[in-house]
Amino acid sequence: MCGIVGYTGPRSCVEILVDGLRRLEYRGYDSAGVAIQAGGDIAIRKSQGKIARLTDLIARKPVAGTCGIGHTRWATHGRPSDENAHPHRVGRVAVIHNGIVENHRTIKERMIAKGRTFCSETDTEVISHLLDEYVSAGLPLEEAVRKAVAELRGSYAFLAVTDREPGTLVGVRLNCPMVVGMGEGEFFLASDLTAFLSHTRDVLFLEDGEMAIATPAGVRITDFSGKRRERPNQRIDWSPAMAEKGGYRHFMLKEIHEQPRAILDTLAGRMLPESGEVFFETLPLTGEQLSRLKKVTLVACGTSWHAAIVGKFMIEGMARIPVEVDLGSEYRYRDPVVEEGTLCVAISQSGETADTLAGMREAKGKGATTVSICNVVASTIARESDGVIYTHAGPEIGVASTKAFTTQLVALYLMALHLAQARKVLTSGEISLHLIDLAELPRKIEEFLKREPEIAAVARKYKDARDFLYLGRGISYPIALEGALKLKEISYIHAEGYPAGEMKHGPIALIDERMPVLVLCAKGESYEKTFSNLEEARSRGGRLIAVGTEGDDLLREKSEDAIFLPPCGRYARPILEVVPLQLFAYHMAVLNGTDVDQPRNLAKSVTVE
Ligand code: M6R
Repeated sequence: MCGIVGYTGPRSCVEILVDGLRRLEYRGYDSAGVAIQAGGDIAIRKSQGKIARLTDLIARKPVAGTCGIGHTRWATHGRPSDENAHPHRVGRVAVIHNGIVENHRTIKERMIAKGRTFCSETDTEVISHLLDEYVSAGLPLEEAVRKAVAELRGSYAFLAVTDREPGTLVGVRLNCPMVVGMGEGEFFLASDLTAFLSHTRDVLFLEDGEMAIATPAGVRITDFSGKRRERPNQRIDWSPAMAEKGGYRHFMLKEIHEQPRAILDTLAGRMLPESGEVFFETLPLTGEQLSRLKKVTLVACGTSWHAAIVGKFMIEGMARIPVEVDLGSEYRYRDPVVEEGTLCVAISQSGETADTLAGMREAKGKGATTVSICNVVASTIARESDGVIYTHAGPEIGVASTKAFTTQLVALYLMALHLAQARKVLTSGEISLHLIDLAELPRKIEEFLKREPEIAAVARKYKDARDFLYLGRGISYPIALEGALKLKEISYIHAEGYPAGEMKHGPIALIDERMPVLVLCAKGESYEKTFSNLEEARSRGGRLIAVGTEGDDLLREKSEDAIFLPPCGRYARPILEVVPLQLFAYHMAVLNGTDVDQPRNLAKSVTVE
């Protein structure tokens, strides 16, 4: 996610802003920039690439002032480039922004009709145009911001300055973080407090729907209607390392907790539950072409491959198109048959995985249309595919993939519905029910995450086990694979994921009291059958950890430990089911003292064969 920092006070602010941006580097970014109020004007310095390029630019074209804003951009709308880098100056204002303006196209069209021209591909630029329109008409910046937010839909935190009001900084928060730092006659506004912790530890966190108006004389907090909000500052005693992780001990844990937000962002602007409609503007095929597709091939590696297997259940189940799933490293060398009417979907968080890229190129070379599901904007796979669906998970820093996985599942769910819609396999009423299920997921995950201590307690019980078996059936089978992979990669404990029905064909021989068995046994289409597999493991002396549906007393009785999830639909269930497995792996790793965020021998992005 983008990093935001603003300053107003008596000191020269360029160094303060650049230093703040450096402290936000861990969030991941592809460009950086500052806007400084200087001599009745606003000076912009911005550049694609690392902060070092920005500082070179500032050294070549110096700028000075005591009020300004700075930004590191993680591309979501528009590729990484100088033009798309923030701040976005339009007329009298400059804006930096984190989040997504969902209705940016509608606002942009309206602005273009009024004769305004746009210089970037970003959604942010519409905020600058809106503010400039109001400020140029004579409104104070604070009022202009208030009028603009009434028109914006989506999730955003932004900072704005104008050349008309030296020393004034206005910040807004709606579903994206923003915090105020209170210094002596100087104030900071930032996306996270790491940016200014070396200057002040007195802070005030903005709540959704609030604005901060800062000048060297003080800060005022209001709601979007202008009503004053008052509350005391907080004193923060986090270390800088803790602050980077938002107070969490590890990035992985932070990212697990970011999943509700990441899912909301991935859904944003792509669905209308009321009318049962799904939108993907970035798919290269028309509705007509989609309806004539003969086959979908999903290619991926690691966790993304597990997402692909879930995707097969979703696409075949809802859109009724045959789906094949392959590992990038296998697909590229097996001389696959690619028939006319094949859509190849490459799934990759980083968008740089060598085997996935080679698999996608193989399919493309043989005539398939290609689409990618990527998290990193303008990555190689995203650029080389004919169309791309971005997951808006934000930067994933922990090597073990968590929020990238759940957002891949959300993207695949939406894609399956989109195909079902184009092929008229599901009615809009049926699609609507699926979308409601999807829309409820962030809240359900949020609620479940509050029960983390329960999972930590289960992990404490099993921390010394050296082998685990994870079982799941149908759409839960890839979740068993994913749960086992999470445990392996961060705790170095051996774990095997298996389709529950296959247990009796071999792995059952392994089961004894030293090999705990984790069974995904939620209420649903294969509940009874999975329950029988659980009984089989139990009667061989296996210690059972069950993940089931709230209210299932029988499951509680039959298993040594049971973790319960709220009920949900068939295709949303895997997205919920993986969360306890992520937390379990995390706590097992912490208890075993491993390096959770950078496990041995692993890289975040595997760009070699
Ligand atoms: O960036 P990608 O999604 O293409 O990466 C694929 C795998 O390398 C990745 O999922 C890996 O398995 C992770 N460490 C899983 O946590």
